Amino acid sequence: SELQDGSVSWQSPSNIALVKYWGKKDGQIPANTSVSFTLNNCKTITELSFSKKENNNQFSFEIFLDYEAKPEFSPKIETFFKRIESYVPFLKDYHFIIKTENTFPHSSGIASSASGMSALALCVMSIEKLHHPDMPEDYFNKKASFLARLGSGSACRSIEGDLVVWGTHPEIEGSSDLFGVKFPYAVHQNFKNYNDTILLVDKGEKQVSSTVGHNLMHNHPFALKRFDQAQENITKIKSVLQSGDLEEFIKIVESEALTLHAMMMTSLPYFILMKPNTLQIINKIWEFRTKTKLPVCFTLDAGANVHVLYPEACTDQVLEFIKTELVAYCQNGHYICDKIGFGAKKL
Ligand code: PMV
Repeated sequence: SELQDGSVSWQSPSNIALVKYWGKKDGQIPANTSVSFTLNNCKTITELSFSKKENNNQFSFEIFLDYEAKPEFSPKIETFFKRIESYVPFLKDYHFIIKTENTFPHSSGIASSASGMSALALCVMSIEKLHHPDMPEDYFNKKASFLARLGSGSACRSIEGDLVVWGTHPEIEGSSDLFGVKFPYAVHQNFKNYNDTILLVDKGEKQVSSTVGHNLMHNHPFALKRFDQAQENITKIKSVLQSGDLEEFIKIVESEALTLHAMMMTSLPYFILMKPNTLQIINKIWEFRTKTKLPVCFTLDAGANVHVLYPEACTDQVLEFIKTELVAYCQNGHYICDKIGFGAKKL
């Protein structure tokens, strides 16, 4: 190919699952369908510089996080490049410099794999597009999501917004195991500008990597039941997202969060990823909801931090509640205000 050198940049957001992906088959194929809100403020910004090299029998790259060399990330990138090589055959023709930064503090307990892997996949696609300038936009997005999935499953849900479904489901038109698709139905006004305030309960390193976590679902006594339940929850949340039924939304989302943790508590080896403060916060949210009747709920990732989800209409009351009652349970009083976003952007 003619292309000698250059650089491309993307910013890509994190996302928070409403119906969780937990368990996969070979080739990064999810055991069940998941759906997530794309976030707006928590994102990764990545610049990928490339220059043609002589020998093309191995990958060659350097990686920097916040201007600091991070050779310890190389094995992850190497694995990613190996997985995507057959789909983007030019990878060995170039030396790459990857410069990346996150808008959220590292060691915040917020996973950067979804935003990081999607940003990198988009950069790779931009280089492919330089080779094929007439590539259609929908092909670009689909393939970016396909490649991102091979980096980190949930990363395939970070390309577009605002709601993204990943995993084949008979009731979601166009859904696929291979890439995320925008939720293909009109979403109720109640979910416009939906808030996600992330309470940082424990900023430590993840106790269980998601790779280990997904593998715990192999031979898990409740796995098959869980996968069926997720498929049913997708059917339910599909109609909730269209009708705006917040009461039903809360039931599905909180149950999904607790089920994810229940799967970890009932695997072998078993893990408790919640901290005492996680439970304090959950109980406070339940008390507040009973008292005020406001439709505020929580969800969790595979960690101790709590995502507080609530409609735009009750922002002032919920933020006041968070500041007066929940911040006390956050590590160093730290929380991040985010909301539903619209996907990645080329810079
Ligand atoms: O994308 P992974 O392999 O890091 O898995 C993410 C799993 C959860 O965040 C716990 C759930 C989800 O659907 O995002």
